[in-house]
Amino acid sequence: AGAMSTTTKGTAGYDRRRELQAFDDTKAGVKGLVDASVTTIPPIFHHPPDSLATSSTATIPVIDLSGRRSEVVGEVRAATETVGFFQVVNHGVPADLLAEMLASVRRFHESPAEAKTPHYTRDLARKVRFNSNFDLFQSPAANWRDTLFCQALPDPPEPEELPAAVRGVLLEYGDAVRQLAVRVLELVSEAMGLAPDRLEKMGCADGLSVVSNYYPPCPQPHLTLGTSRHSDPAFLTVLLQDDMAGLQVLVDDDGEKRAVWADVPPVPGALVINVGDLLQLVSNGRLKSVEHRVVANRSRDRARISVAAFFNADLRQTTAVYGPIEEQVTSSAPPLYRSITVEEFLSHYDGKGLDGRPALDHFLLP
Ligand code: OGA
Ligand code: NI
Repeated sequence: AGAMSTTTKGTAGYDRRRELQAFDDTKAGVKGLVDASVTTIPPIFHHPPDSLATSSTATIPVIDLSGRRSEVVGEVRAATETVGFFQVVNHGVPADLLAEMLASVRRFHESPAEAKTPHYTRDLARKVRFNSNFDLFQSPAANWRDTLFCQALPDPPEPEELPAAVRGVLLEYGDAVRQLAVRVLELVSEAMGLAPDRLEKMGCADGLSVVSNYYPPCPQPHLTLGTSRHSDPAFLTVLLQDDMAGLQVLVDDDGEKRAVWADVPPVPGALVINVGDLLQLVSNGRLKSVEHRVVANRSRDRARISVAAFFNADLRQTTAVYGPIEEQVTSSAPPLYRSITVEEFLSHYDGKGLDGRPALDHFLLP
C-alpha cells in the first residue's frame, strides 16, 4: 500500500484504471457517452499528439477484378509489395448485401441498451462479443469506437447467439466475403510465383472474424482516434466501409523519405483489401502488412460504420506452424521471421494491445 504506480495513477490523484473500469461497467460503450451528450471526452481517450503529416497525393490503387488475369495479378503484386492496401471493384459480393450488412451494424449499435448489454463481454470464449475497445485495459489510450465481434469460421455461432439486428445477414455476408478472399489469395499466390491454391491450402482463410465497428461523432476529435495505428493480426483483411472517410494508411511520401498518412477514400461499391501480419511473415517480408488508423469521427451527428473481415488459420489446429514459405527464402533473402503458431501470434497481439509497435517485430530472427 502507498506505492503509486504510474500506469494506474497519474497526476492529481487521477486513477486511470478506475476510470477504465467505470466506463466498461456502463456496458454502453462510446455511444453511451454520446447519448449522454458529453461535450468533453474523458481523459482515458486522450492520445498524444501525432507529428506525422497527412498527404493528399499518395493514393491507394483501385483494382477491377473483372480485368485480364495477368494484369490483375500484376496490379495485386504491385500493391501488396508496396502500400499493402488496395480497393477492389467488380468483386462479386452483391451491392445489396453490402448495404444490408452496413444497415444491420447500424441497427445493432443504435438499438436500446436492453438489446446490447446482454452481449457486452470480454470473455474470449464467447463467439459473439460486443464491447468498446478490445484492448481497453492494455492500450495506452482508448479509441472513440464500439465493436461487435463475431468468430464466424470455422465454427459459426448458433443464430440465437447473434443479436437480432444482425442475425439475418452477418453469416451470409461472411460466406460471400470469404469467396472473395479465396479469390484474392489465389491472385496473391500467383503474384508470389506460387501455385494459385497455395495460400488457401495452407489454411489462410480457414478462420474468419467479422468485426463490425461503430464510430460515433466525437465532440473533440483532435484529442483522440477512432482506431490507433496498427497492422492487422491476420493473413488478409477485407474491409467494408460506409461513405464517411476516416481510414488512413502510413505510406512513404514519394521522393521524400518520410512517412505520411494517406486517406483511403470511400469508393461506392468497393471493398478494401489489405495484407495482414501473417501474410507478411509467410512471404518472408515481401508482402507488406502496413500500419493504418482511423481518425476520430469529425461529423456532428452521423456515426461512421465499417466491417472488417479478418481471415486467419483455424485456431483449433493448435500445432499448425507458420513461417516463411520455402520458395520465398533464398541465399539473398534469408528467413526474416521464426515459425510460430497463429495462437502464439494472436496472444502476443492481444496481450500488448494497440500500442503503436508492430506485433511482427517480436518474431524477427536475430
Ligand atoms: C481494423 C481496422 C478500419 C476501419 O478493424 O483493423 O483497421 O475503417 N478498421 O474501421
Ligand atoms: Ni486494421
